[in-house]
Amino acid sequence: MVYVQPVIMPTHIIALGGSLLRPEEAEMRGIWFGQLRQMAVHFEGNGRKLGIVVGGGLAAREAIKLAKETVTESYRLDSIGIMATRLNASILQQSLIEIGCNVNSEIPETTASASEMFESYDIVIMGGTIPGHTTDAVAVELARDCGSPHCVIATNVSHVYDSDPRKNPAAKKFDEITLSKLAQITGKDAQGPGESAVVDPIAVKRAIEFGIRLAVLDGRNLSILEDALEGRPFVGTLVKVD
Ligand code: UTP
Repeated sequence: MVYVQPVIMPTHIIALGGSLLRPEEAEMRGIWFGQLRQMAVHFEGNGRKLGIVVGGGLAAREAIKLAKETVTESYRLDSIGIMATRLNASILQQSLIEIGCNVNSEIPETTASASEMFESYDIVIMGGTIPGHTTDAVAVELARDCGSPHCVIATNVSHVYDSDPRKNPAAKKFDEITLSKLAQITGKDAQGPGESAVVDPIAVKRAIEFGIRLAVLDGRNLSILEDALEGRPFVGTLVKVD
């Protein structure tokens, strides 16, 4: 008798920056969404599991700006940001359900419940969880809960740089760095409500704690995201465990 060793495919987790949904750019958004749907169908068709943690993008920024006129406590502003991330998550969730993907019907509020959902669904989509961090950190926690050794941070810049390339034209980009080097670049302090950085410092801290490798890349180009998910060399920064 021949025994076939079952192949255990790791669950792939992506932090999908909310800025990628681009409510301000109808044409590009349509193309991008179509490609993302195709990628999800392809992934599911190959029997793989995908967890997508969606950021708040413009909805979060606008809502937090509006709330700041009357709300001062950070955790309250964060709670508003979390609702925006869940709003964006439900847009992607409904869009994938509509084309027949096996996607979670409820948006989970914790990474523990999200990881349990993989027993019933191929694709699990969620937004934020609790105040004090961003969806980058949620994605790293979800990777840990799913036993995945890596997490993709799909954002709107091409690489991690040693300083902000918008302010410093001589900024150096990295194809590969370690988590501790990334922690030096991002700093240790949590971001304020609605603040943005290439990777949330809390996510970096958690990745160090859990030993999770990161791939930071420009999610506006979905072929780059696909390269990273397929384990091929990709354009972006590979952040290795020290
Ligand atoms: P995001 O995860 O969207 O942050 O959360 P971001 O870095 O701005 O990412 P992009 O722009 O979408 O790529 C938006 C805000 O929601 C709150 C925080 O205030 C954050 O700044 N938030 C989000 C939380 O407090 N907890 C969460 O788990 C997620």
